[in-house]
Amino acid sequence: MIEARGVNHIGIAVRSLAAHRDFYERVLGAIFEGVEEVPSQKVRVAFYRLGSGADPIRLELLEPTAEDSPVARFLEKRGEGVHHIAYTVDDLEARLRTLGEAGVRRIDETPRPGAHDMRIAFLHPESTGRVLTELCEPPGEVG
Ligand code: CO
Repeated sequence: MIEARGVNHIGIAVRSLAAHRDFYERVLGAIFEGVEEVPSQKVRVAFYRLGSGADPIRLELLEPTAEDSPVARFLEKRGEGVHHIAYTVDDLEARLRTLGEAGVRRIDETPRPGAHDMRIAFLHPESTGRVLTELCEPPGEVG
């Protein structure tokens, strides 16, 4: 139904991007790719890449930019840690429609803009074994 093509990234909630840079870059050896602000989620995200092949693994560190950011609420309730897993899909809009018809709870019923010019949507943890699940459609694959 989702037919995920792979794991796009793993999202990790943090209070401060700067505080974790040493671990990801120097200790883990990931490559820092930059910081981007995503107003639709009220977060600032730092991307790290692991591996140099065509399909690197990406980590997305999320720092809230407002107190009513969903990530701020997550940090309040659960503290820092793994926040979501994101899968690469194509035809996100149609996937969301099919999932809705199948009774899968969606946080986003239609795609919204995410980091890296991707279109994204979140599924509700109640329908995904308690793991917040993001679906990502990379740019250039719309339609
Ligand atoms: Co994400």
